[in-house]
Amino acid sequence: MEAKIIHISDVHFGDPTFSDNLKFNILSQIQDNNPDMIIFAGDLTYNGHLNEYDNANEFIDELKSIAEVHVVPGNHDARNVGLVHFENLIGKPIFKRKSGKIVILGLDSAREDINDGNIGPFQLQWLKSELEKVPKNFGKIVVLHHHLIPIPQTGRERNILLDCGDLLQILQDHHVDLVLGGHKHVPNVVTLENMAIINSGTATTRRVRGNGHPCYSELILNEEELNAYIVFTENGAKKLVAKYIFEETDKGVKMHSHKYEAAYRIRPYNQFPSFQDIIAQIICGKSHFINLLKN
Ligand SMILES: [Fe+2]
Ligand SMILES: [Fe+2]
Repeated sequence: MEAKIIHISDVHFGDPTFSDNLKFNILSQIQDNNPDMIIFAGDLTYNGHLNEYDNANEFIDELKSIAEVHVVPGNHDARNVGLVHFENLIGKPIFKRKSGKIVILGLDSAREDINDGNIGPFQLQWLKSELEKVPKNFGKIVVLHHHLIPIPQTGRERNILLDCGDLLQILQDHHVDLVLGGHKHVPNVVTLENMAIINSGTATTRRVRGNGHPCYSELILNEEELNAYIVFTENGAKKLVAKYIFEETDKGVKMHSHKYEAAYRIRPYNQFPSFQDIIAQIICGKSHFINLLKN
């Protein structure tokens, strides 16, 4: 089993800070990267309107021409009864799919017109029974938009999944390997026993926090290890943020993790950005160049 997974979220078609340049960048970066699978962890749109969904759908079609794509909705997609468009254009918001020896389970954590997330008893029960059916030698990935664990550098905690305790228990009892999400627009990697919880940043907007930059994740998974990278959409710079080594023991597979640097602290520039990057950032109303000089 070997898989290269691109994990994106918070693309937000319709957001005033959405950048066509960043959209162009991410599409060409993913194309060059040739992944096996693309996981889109919600917030496709800004207000859940049909025109935003049309643009998101076009983008997803472009992603589908590169690799298989799995999409769950986010809180913004559930605004203005937007989940109707999600079901019509994108697909079922709750799903179980198989890709080689990996099972991907998608959950809908979005609720109409609120930013809080919730899974609810029906989906929890469904998840539990589907996880019980997964063969032992298969990798298990669960995707949902909201964060399960507080993310550093995101200000006052809010919108954490309302029933995260119940969900965490099911995920851990059934030895889920990877939980992929988004929502806070800040990348983060955290390990809970043998489970990696990875949240990607916003891929194509300037709606970042503090000194953050638009970014997404790349995950390279095989039977021995998982390497998690953060990729910056502005210039394609890629940095390893965590490495997980799997060890077979009497009690099952044990995961040893090593974090290189907190994902939210990593910057896309090792050196001064190009003139083109500086101009693009000034046009977008934020000069990361100035921040760089301050650091
Ligand atoms: Fe978002
Ligand atoms: Fe969100």
